[in-house]
Amino acid sequence: MAVSNIRYGAGVTKEVGMDLQNMGAKNVCLMTDKNLSQLPPVQVVMNSLVKNGINFKVYDNVRVEPTDTSFMEAIEFAKKGAFDAYVAVGGGSTIDTCKAANLYSSSPRSEFLDYVNAPIGKGKPVSVPLKPLIAVPTTSGTGSETTGVAIFDYEQLKVKTGIASRAIKPTLGLIDPLHTLHMPDRVVANSGFDVLCHALESYTALPYHLRSPCPSNPISRPAYQGSNPISDIWAVHALQIVAKYLKRYVTQQGIETEQKKCDPPSCKMCLVLECPEWDCPLEAWSVDIEECHWKGQEGCHGMSYPISGLVKTYKAKDYNVDHPLVPHGLSVVLTSPAVFTFTAEMFPERHLETAKILGADIRTARTQDAGLVLADTLRKFLFELNVDDGLAALGYSTADIPALVRGTLPQERVTKLAPRPQSEEDLSALFEASMKLY
Ligand SMILES: NC(=O)c1ccc[n+]([C@@H]2O[C@H](COP(=O)([O-])OP(=O)(O)OC[C@H]3O[C@@H](n4cnc5c(N)ncnc54)[C@H](O)[C@@H]3O)[C@@H](O)[C@H]2O)c1
Ligand SMILES: [Fe+2]
Repeated sequence: MAVSNIRYGAGVTKEVGMDLQNMGAKNVCLMTDKNLSQLPPVQVVMNSLVKNGINFKVYDNVRVEPTDTSFMEAIEFAKKGAFDAYVAVGGGSTIDTCKAANLYSSSPRSEFLDYVNAPIGKGKPVSVPLKPLIAVPTTSGTGSETTGVAIFDYEQLKVKTGIASRAIKPTLGLIDPLHTLHMPDRVVANSGFDVLCHALESYTALPYHLRSPCPSNPISRPAYQGSNPISDIWAVHALQIVAKYLKRYVTQQGIETEQKKCDPPSCKMCLVLECPEWDCPLEAWSVDIEECHWKGQEGCHGMSYPISGLVKTYKAKDYNVDHPLVPHGLSVVLTSPAVFTFTAEMFPERHLETAKILGADIRTARTQDAGLVLADTLRKFLFELNVDDGLAALGYSTADIPALVRGTLPQERVTKLAPRPQSEEDLSALFEASMKLY
């Protein structure tokens, strides 16, 4: 089990300057997005750097839902700056962009596609040393501060793909629940749906010992290994957190900041840690202490990449950006009722167990109805959380299905872990069934 480094605590962001000083960093790159650059999380980091005499340059041009072009702009900045350490302050978009900037500026002769996942890229293993990267997450869902993954839209194919290597994992994640106090409600909901689907997909994924291929060299083994006893524990735990806190947060609009502070919905997802000051269990961000142990991905994630990549004009509420955007968590969750109806015949007991955690009464449920029970539970959950009514509400129609299927096929890294293999016809049917949810 490879574990990531995290430090957790309200206000822990203030320590980032000391961490960099302890590392001997002299020339730091601070990455964030335009919106966050005006908000307290970035201010706190900058104050800490100044206080500790750390020289730094700010790159605030991170694209929310990054693309290969936006990655390359950040890589150029990193190459020119010759930095000896990085700090990423933001959600998955910022942290992923910073990982790519660190990687390619440390490997300046590499072509962009060299490290991108096959079959879109060459999927080369990373053998160059990278600079330290401290990640300060400001959303609660991606767990990017703990993963060796950087996701982007590959514009040429209009599909999401990524770079996956343990080498790009941040050196340290500083997890500070105070940042969630600034998160808009839909950002909370969507990052929560990412957690929900990762948990469901992990728990119902193909078990690790049935996965193939099984490369003999450890460096070639995939980060996503399939379900296993460690990931099972985290997946169930994460589902319990989602069931308990996510709806409560999103539906309790307008609760006072002070109340949010001592009532952890604002600190939402992830590990339940004891919070002595607030006398309540408090969740940190890092749902995935280490992605390969709990964060399985299969159907919903594989299908989500073209849903985001082929976006037409949809603009998500609460996202302060000037381009069409389907947030990652939304793109993942909309197919979840169809996907789990489809996969349930392989591990029906696990599907029923997750439905129960999400609030279904399964006492009289039949095993053969496991998929339908979970799908109904998910639909109810999504309806109560005001989620758009399926892919049609995002501007997709039946005519888009062939393109959505073509965009899913290259996502073998994740779709291969689905408990039931999907043909092109199956994928078409799953997209069709996800056009409308309610
Ligand atoms: N690397 C990984 O392991 C991994 C895992 C899951 C998702 N992802 C990727 O992460 C990206 C999504 O990241 P995300 O959901 O964390 O959000 P994000 O980084 O895309 O940010 C979403 C929006 O929320 C704003 N925001 C973020 N934190 C805020 C705060 N505390 N207060 C106010 N506004 C805030 C941002 O400015 C932005 O407008 C996607 O590209 C997805 O593919 C990566
Ligand atoms: Fe995800």
